[in-house]
Amino acid sequence: EHGKEAVIISPYWVSYPDMVLLANGSPVILKTSFENNFQFNAEDLDSVLTENTRLLMLNSPSNPTGVTYTKDQYQIIAEVLKNYPDVLIATDDMYEHIYWGEDKFYSFAEACPDLFERTITINGVSKAYAMTGWRIGYCGGPPKIIAAMKKVQGQSTSNASSVSQAAAVTALNGTHESVHSMTREYERRHKFIYAALNEIRGFKTVAATGAFYTFPKVTSAVEYLNLTDDIEFSDYLLEKARVAVVPGTAFGAKGHIRLSFATSMELLKEAVNRIKEVLK
Ligand SMILES: Cc1ncc(COP(=O)(O)O)c(C=O)c1O
Repeated sequence: EHGKEAVIISPYWVSYPDMVLLANGSPVILKTSFENNFQFNAEDLDSVLTENTRLLMLNSPSNPTGVTYTKDQYQIIAEVLKNYPDVLIATDDMYEHIYWGEDKFYSFAEACPDLFERTITINGVSKAYAMTGWRIGYCGGPPKIIAAMKKVQGQSTSNASSVSQAAAVTALNGTHESVHSMTREYERRHKFIYAALNEIRGFKTVAATGAFYTFPKVTSAVEYLNLTDDIEFSDYLLEKARVAVVPGTAFGAKGHIRLSFATSMELLKEAVNRIKEVLK
């Protein structure tokens, strides 16, 4: 709706601002930084909420940082939102199962049941079950909101194929053994890439607790190579090191790059060596 605002935390998954624009709303970005472990506090949130805010978009574990909200952090957010009754909360928990933090994983609705009536919990099979391309996502929320979503969706999209639906049911009802073993593997890769990147000249990265990305700050590396920004640096890495990364600018966080570790240890080691080589 024109004039209505959706608050998005940066670095954000690339699609969120465009989704808001498609709905004729205005994205309002709440910036977080590497220095603060990509966290924000109650005052930060309060400073971007207005009488026009209608949605707060959260994503945990995060694409691109891999940082996950704790129960306490969600409860701090909820306290602030109690003063803004018109704000819905959409939480994208796509990487819920790819999580290796010490604390139990909490969805927002679980951590803050008082706000259940205005929380929409989003998930899908693309990541945990390696079913990208099968096009199955789903969400839960209060019946009134879900009914309104069905009205819009029923007239604006076609359906996910029955084959995908059947495969998703099997994945969701399965033992999750492969999900657990892949999560252990992602944790192992993260441990490697986190330590390895922090040893590369001009790279600094925070420890992630989920998803399969790392989001180093590379401003010093960009400077060292006499390049202008993360976009030029990403092109440079592709051309000179033959390593594909995504510039942080796409996630609303210039001066960073995103690397995915959804690939073998062997390739990750090779990628790290190649990046090291161009930054010697
Ligand atoms: C945080 C997040 N949400 C949603 C999606 C969308 O997933 P898909 O459309 O492949 O199911 C992605 C994919 O990259 C993601 O990272």
